[in-house]
Amino acid sequence: MPDLAAREAPAPQVSPDNPCPFLRALVAGNHVGSHVVPLPELTRTIDRTTGKTGLPALIAGVQIFLVAQIANGLGPLSQLRSLIKGAILDELRNGPLDKHGAGSRILDQHAVVHEDEITRLATFGKDYKSPDGSVERGLSASDIKAFMAANFQRSKDEHSWTYAIRRCYYPLLMLGEWPVLLDIMGKGEGRDRYLSVAEVRTLFVERRFPDRIVALLNR
Ligand code: HEM
Repeated sequence: MPDLAAREAPAPQVSPDNPCPFLRALVAGNHVGSHVVPLPELTRTIDRTTGKTGLPALIAGVQIFLVAQIANGLGPLSQLRSLIKGAILDELRNGPLDKHGAGSRILDQHAVVHEDEITRLATFGKDYKSPDGSVERGLSASDIKAFMAANFQRSKDEHSWTYAIRRCYYPLLMLGEWPVLLDIMGKGEGRDRYLSVAEVRTLFVERRFPDRIVALLNR
């Protein structure tokens, strides 16, 4: 009898040094490689998840490109390497985008998921009516703002003076994380648009996107 398990392709390994839940799901789902990914390819792939077209897609693409360009280092050599070769997704930890504990802390430095932090995230949300009629816990744009402010606040006074300097630009980095996740994975429209806590949990724990995002990726 053929060994079916042996014929299945092994699931891609996602490095603990990739701390971004979004990129981790892209790697786990085989949408991008786990190591060096050329910036145009990374940008195009992420751009598809937004569902945007035309000028909005172009603007989103430029923003993604710029974030990826600086992700592995700010020095001229890192910049050149990123531009020529791409972003190194398994070497993002301790890079310029790593906020060292000023984020949600759902993933620790070994990429272990902390369920208590997902429970904490949910406390910032409310119950929302999903487009399918069910009720679920989620975070709106203003809930996310409060969540990020609390994350930033709890990391205060924990580190050295170099950390104090880095913290100056963390609020800017945060704008490219949870609010963008809401933009991409949110349900509902306008002020009622919310990020489902259940889907955030699946993203972090199973490194899996909702089916509607996978459909956009496979277009
Ligand atoms: C639209 C695309 C993206 C979305 C929606 C997104 C979303 C997020 C979210 C929600 C977090 C978690 C922050 C927390 O735990 O508080 C995060 C962290 C992170 N992301 Fe992304 N991300 C995206 C693209 C990227 C790209 C292109 C890079 C770099 C190549 C990147 C690098 C990182 C890093 C290094 C962290 C860790 C930050 C920390 O631990 O403080 N992300 N991202």
